[in-house]
Amino acid sequence: MSTAAMPRRDDLIAAARAASGGAYAPYSRFQVGAALAFDDGSVVTGANVENVSFGLSLCAETVAAAAAMNAGRRGGLVAIAIVGGPPDASGVATPGPERITPCGRCRQILAELAMLGGTDPVVWCAGEVDVLEIRLSDLLPHQFGPGALGGD
Ligand code: THU
Repeated sequence: MSTAAMPRRDDLIAAARAASGGAYAPYSRFQVGAALAFDDGSVVTGANVENVSFGLSLCAETVAAAAAMNAGRRGGLVAIAIVGGPPDASGVATPGPERITPCGRCRQILAELAMLGGTDPVVWCAGEVDVLEIRLSDLLPHQFGPGALGGD
């Protein structure tokens, strides 16, 4: 992993917060933005997309990971930032004291993308004041992997 391509923490959090403006969250009014940073310096973002059938809603992290994979990315994931909260007057998330950590499903989806490039991205979970910094492997220990299917 190239340390030169590591984004500044506050820049990636700002990208996640800006992305939260694209959320479609009329039911929870809880907007989440996720920003994925890659080893070539690029950033792919996503925001949550809810559905009137609540269980069909998509989390910001899943939207971002799917966008990155649809754009052809297979690995190279070095950092992830996540911001969530109700929208402010300009329509972006205003984080509260509680930091947003990815849900279980999103951890597995992010882990698939990370696995393809053999990285263990740092995850920045931003609250109003504090930022939790944690490795994806610490958020998802003992992840389900291709070995279980008899692959490599
Ligand atoms: N949500 C995310 O987008 N990411 C998370 O990590 C947790 C929850 C979304 C799902 C739903 O649209 C809203 O936040 C409230 O649960």
